[in-house]
Amino acid sequence: MARAALGSVLLSDPLDPCCAQLLRAAGIRAREQPGLSPPQLLAEIQDCDGLIVRSATKVTAEVIEAGKKLQVIGRAGTGVDNVDVEAATRRGILVMNTPTGNSLSAAELTCGMILCLARQIPQAAASMKDGKWARKQFMGTELHGKSLGILGLGRIGREVATRMQAFGMKTIGYDPVITPEDSAAFGVQQLPLERIWPLCDFITVHTPLLPSTTGLLNDSTFAKCRRGVQVVNCARGGIVDEGALLRALQSGQCGGAALDVFTEEPPRDRALVNHPNVICCPHLGASTREAQRRCGKEIAQQFVGLALGTALAGAVNGQALGCALDPQTRPWIALGRALGLLLQTLAGPVQGALQVCTLGAPLQKAGTYLSPAVATGLLEGAGHKHVNLVNALLLAQEAGVKVTATEGEAVPEPGGGDSALQLALPGTPFKLVGSLQGSTPVLQELNGAAFPQPVPLAGHLLLYRAPAGASPLPAVLGLLGAAQVRLQSYHGSRAVRGEEWSCLGLSEPAGALAGAAHHVTEAFALSLEPCAAASRGAALPR
Ligand code: NAD
Ligand code: MLT
Repeated sequence: MARAALGSVLLSDPLDPCCAQLLRAAGIRAREQPGLSPPQLLAEIQDCDGLIVRSATKVTAEVIEAGKKLQVIGRAGTGVDNVDVEAATRRGILVMNTPTGNSLSAAELTCGMILCLARQIPQAAASMKDGKWARKQFMGTELHGKSLGILGLGRIGREVATRMQAFGMKTIGYDPVITPEDSAAFGVQQLPLERIWPLCDFITVHTPLLPSTTGLLNDSTFAKCRRGVQVVNCARGGIVDEGALLRALQSGQCGGAALDVFTEEPPRDRALVNHPNVICCPHLGASTREAQRRCGKEIAQQFVGLALGTALAGAVNGQALGCALDPQTRPWIALGRALGLLLQTLAGPVQGALQVCTLGAPLQKAGTYLSPAVATGLLEGAGHKHVNLVNALLLAQEAGVKVTATEGEAVPEPGGGDSALQLALPGTPFKLVGSLQGSTPVLQELNGAAFPQPVPLAGHLLLYRAPAGASPLPAVLGLLGAAQVRLQSYHGSRAVRGEEWSCLGLSEPAGALAGAAHHVTEAFALSLEPCAAASRGAALPR
């Protein structure tokens, strides 16, 4: 049964019925309310823990602010352009999508568009319905032997490639991330864009809409294409510049275009839609029963996995949360958080650079989830409310802390296994090194002073430094006794630069022991939750 923390989820777009069924079967209250007006959405979202949308609902910053209890937004589909992801991240709200569920449907629509362009099937059908028999008007072109340029070779681009190869098309393409070896495996020869333009009979775009892909096809690139090139956009409106496309169609530089997507949906400017060489659909790439069922099922399963704390899939932001659910990485997240909190306690308001260095091969690439964990502890220590692994890095950056993650090989002694986490504030003496003993986070080293017995980072701690050999412990114990605080553990460091650190584990918070400062050089108190604890009343682990 799902934890009550993800009690109520609003489904504000029409979704396959399996979505609500799966949520309900897991004990989550699914409220199916498609077609809400913006003011209605603002009212309905107020008491929801989760929101699931397709593309119609615009999840603006205002909606996100109105969702006071909102923890997760799910997009049953690929593009999250209708969700203000930055606003959600700032509020610590997880955004998830289902990036694979509709790829085949979008690829099949693209292939259909290419066939329709080559043979003008929609125009011929419309002419027949108009009572005509215009055989001469619709002379087509064979696809066999023609070149198809595919820009974006991710999930959809590659499915388009293999299908169009079956028609005998030569597939060339470009993707800055996919290697030429990878694309060769699905039959696409990668070339620089400048070489692609003049080679193509057809061009299809399958990139996200990014600043770097907006207007990928524009006046200048159209001019480099073969005269009569045919263009397909089943990705996002704006990747093909609409003004440039209209000009290219009017001049004959572009022989035809197939559009499933528009910069404004539905488009108010009908010039492209009405052009005789344009065929178009009202954003139907994912509109198949199969795709909708897959996307509805996947997003529901992702919500249930999150509610049960068993898995995190499809995260658009807050990927570190997945590591907080994984029993292998969860203790490291707890260590990062504890060290961040300790650093803030020792150093006071942290500003500027904070180096998070993972040591040892097992922690390779762990900086991606340990940096947010450290930032979470740091900000909690500074009194920030509502910090979690989703928003910690963004909030830290806004608070003037620049967290950088590096990797090192050496693991310091005394041993904490084969890996460790080190925090440093460059230009200051503050340097903490911690590791795990079993699944317990421990402090190994503080400002260069190693603890022969690492200090468990849990419960109520009192740390102090004092001149080596000064032995302030009896006086501190006297203060503890007077405050009716019991000593549970004691760890002392080696002497460095004539000083030693002591760390006392206590039965109660040690805030009242400020009087210890008379006996020691400096004293600090902090309280840490046991490492496995998740925030109560919330589905998102911290
Ligand atoms: P994907 O993330 O799997 O692939 C996108 C690829 O584009 C990536 O490999 C990326 O490296 C590449 N890319 C990024 N910048 C590029 C550039 N400047 N030039 C060339 N390639 C670049 O995404 P996907 O699932 O294949 O989806 C592709 C597009 O289709 C997205 O815009 C998505 O929103 C859209 N989509 C539309 C529909 C629809 O209904 N019409 C359905 C699903 C997806
Ligand atoms: C997507 O990004 O998943 C598609 O554009 C389909 C949709 O909007 O539902």
